[in-house]
Amino acid sequence: MTTRHTVTAALPYSNGRLHVGHIAGCYLPADIYARYLRSIGEEVAFICGSDDYGVPVSLTAREEGREPAEVAAYYRAEQKNDFDGLGISLDIFSGTSATDIHTEVSQHFFLALLQNGYLEKRTSVQLYDPEAGRFLPDRYVEGTCPHCETGGARGDQCEACGKMLEPSKLISPESVITGARPEKRETVHWFFLLPKLQDRLREWIRSHPEWRPMVRNFSLGLLEQGLPERAITRDLDWGIPVPLEDDPDAEGKVLYVWFDAPIGYVSFTAQWCAEQEGDPDGYERWWKDPDCRIVHFIGEDNVVFHAITWPAMLMAEGTFELPDFIPANCFLNIQFPGEEETKISKSRGTAVWINQYLEEYDPDPLRYYLTMIAPERQRTAFVFDDLIRRNNEELVAALGNFVHRNMTFAHRYFDGRVPRRGDLTEEDRRQLAMIAELPDRVAALLADFSFRDALGQVMEAARESNRYFDCREPWALRKEARASCGTVINICLNTIKALGVVMEPFLPFAAGKVARMLPVAGDGLNWAQAADPLPEDLELGEPEILFEKLEELSEE
Ligand code: 2FM
Ligand code: ZN
Repeated sequence: MTTRHTVTAALPYSNGRLHVGHIAGCYLPADIYARYLRSIGEEVAFICGSDDYGVPVSLTAREEGREPAEVAAYYRAEQKNDFDGLGISLDIFSGTSATDIHTEVSQHFFLALLQNGYLEKRTSVQLYDPEAGRFLPDRYVEGTCPHCETGGARGDQCEACGKMLEPSKLISPESVITGARPEKRETVHWFFLLPKLQDRLREWIRSHPEWRPMVRNFSLGLLEQGLPERAITRDLDWGIPVPLEDDPDAEGKVLYVWFDAPIGYVSFTAQWCAEQEGDPDGYERWWKDPDCRIVHFIGEDNVVFHAITWPAMLMAEGTFELPDFIPANCFLNIQFPGEEETKISKSRGTAVWINQYLEEYDPDPLRYYLTMIAPERQRTAFVFDDLIRRNNEELVAALGNFVHRNMTFAHRYFDGRVPRRGDLTEEDRRQLAMIAELPDRVAALLADFSFRDALGQVMEAARESNRYFDCREPWALRKEARASCGTVINICLNTIKALGVVMEPFLPFAAGKVARMLPVAGDGLNWAQAADPLPEDLELGEPEILFEKLEELSEE
């Protein structure tokens, strides 16, 4: 069994705040996984930071009349607040323009690839905006996708069909800066010779039959078509300089944002190790050790970069381990009352923003709802009324109610202590067996990245526990069979303990309340000890409400 795990979540562009789509796509599943691993006693580095360079941040800076560095720092801080508010338990949230370490590691990759024969300088034809007097890489151009013919495709990738693009391949291209029709001009760039790695990549992906079909089949499909040689430098002034001071061709060139971004996973780990242990080389334990498991959580539009180009970079550099698993979620759509399901979009105003949500509501109901509708295998839709309804009907009525009714019962009739467990009935044994096997059942699904089903099991256990409570009727036993009543409450308090452990990855704030209510000494609230009996006579904390009932929003 592995004991160390590098868990990463895709770097958000630091050009805006986070909405529910971002969270459902990769940050929440990554957090659930990291929390679960910590609970079973594994060593985890949960790494993220903002993706600051390249066109997305430059364009926002233009729109906002600010410098890109300022925009990146501003949104990075806002994104950090959103993550903290939601309990996304990152070990580090840095940014690609935040430190020199990232620049150094990125330049190291460039030089290593060059030295190992995977980069070549080429004169290529790029689009140029004559009105703005500059080249137009990537998202500086929009047009019609040559593959699926959808309009509004960006120069780097078509959102509709997911294919990587080049601006010069777009049909009817337009400059995003001036709207002008771009001309073609020659410029020098460094190209990544991906075809050289094609066979190794294919063999490697084939060796992972356990990957989700979306990731595996999509990547194998691209390999089938043949990988192109890709320019990994750009004519831009916002980015990491190409580290070839003696080469005049390198002047004014920076690394392509998709080249330096995934390197952020490594450089932020190095930064974290430097901050924690004073040893930036400590990152090697997380990236160069075959016993450490590397997992990249991403959204569906990032598959090609994580399953093809990033592993190719790692292969070409030569001293790193390759990712073990790439759990990609599909997009989350949104549906407003009386309207059709639609894409979440900042410009069309169809996003639910995390900071606005957190001004009014607790984080756990959103975490719950986003996990229960997680787009793990297909796109799903966020419906605000459903969040409220499921909070009330599921979290409050099943899980919260079970905890509350037992805690108040124990306080009222057992002096706020865990009563003694006496002789057991058939129902008591069944309930104890259920909680004894619950941690393994949930763990098997979590280890398989089936977070939605795993949380479903936790909720099913809560419902079953309510049925147990109702069937044993402790309120009736209290007078004529006090010992049996104590046994039932003892079993229910132990059930709360087990539920508290298995709910923690999903609902960490509620789990924190359970930990206060059942103040078990040491680290008793961990996975292995979830079903170990609470000490009899343990003094319980005050009952706390796990989840508040929420008002429905629609006027019906
Ligand atoms: O698609 C995006 O939002 C990118 N900023 C993701 C980068 S992930 C990684 F490679 F850094
Ligand atoms: Zn397309």
